[in-house]
Amino acid sequence: MGSERLGAFNEAHVKLINEYLDSNLTRFAKSCSQRFTPLLEAMRYSLEGGGKRLRPLLVLSAAEALGIKAKDVLPAACAMEYIHTYSLIHDDLPALDDDDTRRGKPSSHKRFGEAVAILAGDALLTEAFGQVLLLGESKTFHPAQILGVIDLLAHNSGVRGMVGGQLLDVTIDTTDASLPEIEFIHIHKTGALILASVLIPTKLIPLEEEKSQKFRRYGEALGLAFQISDDILDSETSMRYSRGPRKKPKPCYTQVMSPSEMREKLNRLINSAITAIESLGDKAQNLVDIAEIIRTRKA
Ligand code: IPE
Ligand code: IPE
Ligand code: MG
Ligand code: MG
Repeated sequence: MGSERLGAFNEAHVKLINEYLDSNLTRFAKSCSQRFTPLLEAMRYSLEGGGKRLRPLLVLSAAEALGIKAKDVLPAACAMEYIHTYSLIHDDLPALDDDDTRRGKPSSHKRFGEAVAILAGDALLTEAFGQVLLLGESKTFHPAQILGVIDLLAHNSGVRGMVGGQLLDVTIDTTDASLPEIEFIHIHKTGALILASVLIPTKLIPLEEEKSQKFRRYGEALGLAFQISDDILDSETSMRYSRGPRKKPKPCYTQVMSPSEMREKLNRLINSAITAIESLGDKAQNLVDIAEIIRTRKA
């Protein structure tokens, strides 16, 4: 299993996610006033802009590792992509990173103006929680378990997670940030959403603590590994496909580690992530593949 798609995300999963995201936007368009079309356009513009879909892929892959059908968790996968996309729209705003390019296109505020970009982000965040409620539609999950997912998303996306990390990212003095400080920021601003994606399926079925800890260890290691791989890519090229050259300095591993130390740490974290879920066997192959892709990714 897996060798034929080594180096590429599971295509069937990507297709499921993209079709679901598309059908949802169509559903919104049918159910809201035509006067709100500009907002829907801005939401669609950012959602369609060539993202890797890492977070929804993690939701589907973690679900399958637990014997849950991928299609049953699509609303939660979509919720994660909404929250991630909103975080990118707001991250690019002049008040934060002031970046003009995202996902290979002009960033939302460059295309639609700041007000609409802010509102598109607000709408995506809010609708993400509406999506989680749709997990109830298939009658597969108990309402109390769906509440557990809402709690997880609020925790990892808000002041205790991504938004908290973003606060430090934009307010810290980047000239003398220490390794523990940089790591603390990365665990929150990037790691929290990745971890939440991996943990969502563990909230949806009764699960012994020992087993959910395996997913937690995988998610934590992968979240940090992802940010290191991102910093490695940033250090190798100032002009990434997804974004233009940076206008503002930001706390990153490059400030406190050499390229070989970063590569070594990345390898160590990917190995720990894979070891954490090894005992789950073939069902967890997609999670292993994702970790391997992050180890060697070039985009
Ligand atoms: C970019 O995330 C922001 C970080 C947390 C480093 P991704 O690299 O997953 O962005 P997309 O979704 O593929 O555009
Ligand atoms: C983006 O972080 C992470 C979030 C939006 C939470 P960065 O600002 O470091 O990433 P890029 O370079 O804009 O994608
Ligand atoms: Mg930022
Ligand atoms: Mg940024």
